[in-house]
Formats: sequence, C-alpha cells, structure tokens
Amino acid sequence: MVLDWKFLLSPTLDPMAPGHRVGIVGGGQLAVMMADAADALGLGITSLAQVADDPIFSFGRQGFVGDALDLGDLRRLASDNDVLTFDHELVDYRVLAQLETEGVIVRPGSTTMAIATDKERQYELFERLEIAQPETVVVSDLDSAFEAISRFDGAAVLKTARGGYDGRGVLLDSSEAVVREWFPPGQTTVLVQRRVDVEIEIAVQVVRAQDGTMVTYSPVRTVQSDGMCSIVHIPAEIAPALQDEAMEIARKIAEAIEVVGILAVEFFVLDGELLVNELAARPHNSGHLTIEASATSQFENHLRAVTGLPLGPTDRIVSAAAMANIVGQTRGELQDHSFSPDVFIHMYGKTPRPGRKLGHVTAIADTTDQAIERALDTAKELEQESEMS
Ligand SMILES: Nc1ncnc2c1ncn2[C@@H]1O[C@H](COP(=O)(O)OP(=O)(O)OP(=O)(O)O)[C@@H](O)[C@H]1O
Ligand SMILES: [Mg+2]
Repeated sequence: MVLDWKFLLSPTLDPMAPGHRVGIVGGGQLAVMMADAADALGLGITSLAQVADDPIFSFGRQGFVGDALDLGDLRRLASDNDVLTFDHELVDYRVLAQLETEGVIVRPGSTTMAIATDKERQYELFERLEIAQPETVVVSDLDSAFEAISRFDGAAVLKTARGGYDGRGVLLDSSEAVVREWFPPGQTTVLVQRRVDVEIEIAVQVVRAQDGTMVTYSPVRTVQSDGMCSIVHIPAEIAPALQDEAMEIARKIAEAIEVVGILAVEFFVLDGELLVNELAARPHNSGHLTIEASATSQFENHLRAVTGLPLGPTDRIVSAAAMANIVGQTRGELQDHSFSPDVFIHMYGKTPRPGRKLGHVTAIADTTDQAIERALDTAKELEQESEMS
C-alpha cells in the first residue's frame, strides 16, 4: 500500500474506481465468494491464507500463506492492497490497531473487530444497548462455571469468549463430566448462559458504509444441527413486526459498533420475543443465499462498503430460497441429476474432513418448503455420493 499523506491524516478511502485491491485476511470459502464478487466489481484481491490448501488456492486466486495474528504478515498483505478485510475472526484487534496507526485501512476497523471477536464484549454491548439476550454469567474458572450452571437449574450453554468457530467454542451439554472435560485450561473467559427454549433462530445482515449509510436484508431463518448451521431459508416466515424489530436491532448494533462492511446478527425467537445471540462482522453462512435470492449478494455489498462504492439494493428477487450446507468426508462427484435451473451448487475446493463444510447448495422455489426440500435433497445426494466413493 502506498502511504500517502491522505491516509496518514485520515484513514478514509475515496470511492474506489475498478482496479483497486482488497487484501482478505483468511483464505476460506468466504474469501473465495468475496473474490467472485470482486471480479464483477473489477476489484483485485489477495488472500493471507492460513495453510497452503486453503480454498482460495483451489481457485487459482492470488495469496500467500501466513499468520493472521502476525504484524509482519499483515503488513505484507497491506503492502500491495488498498484496504484489508476479513474472512475469519481469528485475529488480534491490537495488531489491527497497530496497522491502523501505520495508515493501513482496515474494514471493519480494529474497534469493531475487538467486539466482533469477543463474545464477552458482545454481551456487555447488548447490556449497554438494552437489547434482550439470554441470561449470562461470565466466568474464568471451573468452580464459578458450576455455580452459574446450578443457578440456571443445570440447563446451560457454555461458550468461550474468544476463538470459537463453527460451534467448536460452544458446549450445549452442561452435565458435570462433560463440562469438566471441555472447560479450557488457564485463564480463559467463558460465558455461561441459560439454555433457552429456542423456537426459531433467525439472522439479519446489515451493511454499513463509511459515511454511516446502511442497507438491511430481511431476516433469514436458520436451522442448526449439533451447534452448526445446516439450513437457511428466506422468507423467514415470522411475524412482520418481528422482522422489522430484528432489522431495527441489527441497525442499532451496526451503528453502535461503527462497522464498515457487513454485520450478521443472530437472534433466538422465544415466545414471540427476540433475544440477540451473537455477531459476525464478515459475510456469514446465513447470508450465502443472497447470491441467488437478493438483488445484491452479501459478498458484493460487503466489498462495496469496504471499498467506498455505493451499497446495492437488498431486495429479495425470488419467492423463496433455501440453503443447505454440504458437510462430509469426501467430496462427491456432481451427477447429472444434481443439476437443475433452480438449484445452485457451490463447492469450496476443500480437502474433506469429518464435519467440515465442503460447500453449499441454494435452491429457489415458489415456497420455502419446496426450496428446503430441493436444497436438502441435493446436499444429501452429494454427501451420500461422498460416503460411497
Ligand atoms: N443460550 C442458548 N440457549 C439455547 N441454545 C443456544 C444458546 N446459545 C447457543 N445456542 C445454540 O448453539 C448454536 C451455536 O451458538 P453460537 O451461535 O453462540 O455459537 P457459534 O459457535 O459462534 O456459532 P456459529 O459460528 O456456528 O454461528 C446456536 O445457534 C443455538 O442453536
Ligand atoms: Mg452462531
């Protein structure tokens, strides 16, 4: 990156003409899908990948392997890019703050990432904003964890404050032996939450530009299995008032944390009331279906926000859409019968591993039920293919 005086005085980016470059911290599927959107916008990308077989390299994209926590590697990423953004949250906001003092444009910025990478700070933020959330006790040792669990009548969910991803930092079983086995050693901060009787889970994507302009996607409904998102559909099929309220809360949070880029806000619906769960300040699994279902995808709008381009419309452009993750042992071969004009398969070019998200399928249809059925059928077919091969 060229450190010209403009950046040193004020780290803002002029609206970018095509040809500008975005450095993506991470090389996973989100980076791959951002790169696809970057092509359409005429933006270049470089990825700071974690390992040599990260998805970004399966698609011949530009990048290098390094450590997202290392100042030197991040400086290298910044050196040939105009702005840095994220594919994952395994970063240290203090290192990002250092880059900012050196004139690097980081979007979302270090203060936003400090919150987005830390469930304890999110808990404090929701308290401060008076947004309802599950009852929570923050602990850092096993005895206090057991105390909190008994306060919640034994029905609790435990979450590491930092470093959790794809359910790995979340324990849904609060029985004593399981908690003992799971509880991280050392001074790790853990949130103990009352396990709420979740009826429905939804997520809202809101995109905020540097000047504070925001666009919001209608809520999607998410279905989890084993703490990992398995199905997403739109419309969410919840009361319109609840949709509006969720979108309003998402905007309130986006403003409070001054995010530049996309923010996913996850909610539980319980007795017709919303409880906020957590945030992700990056494109999110719950927004993948925006590629086919919305006027502008979450990936394009994120890049628009971080590069200073005008935000695109978020309207739903299909009657209904559903996304199913493809999770499996080995990658299945795509069969002819998997192809349909209403079914879109996205493989991430990943080395298969048990429980790893290898891709996703989005189906569009007249109704959500049809879309879910089609997406699931195709995902299962691909997973079955993989088990047989
Ligand atoms: N307090 C709670 N009560 C009931 N269920 C919960 C609670 N907290 C979390 N869960 C369940 O566990 C899932 C994962 O929790 P959470 O979203 O906090 O973790 P995560 O690992 O960051 O998730 P991901 O990265 O997959 O979005 C939730 O989507 C929900 O299904
Ligand atoms: Mg979650």
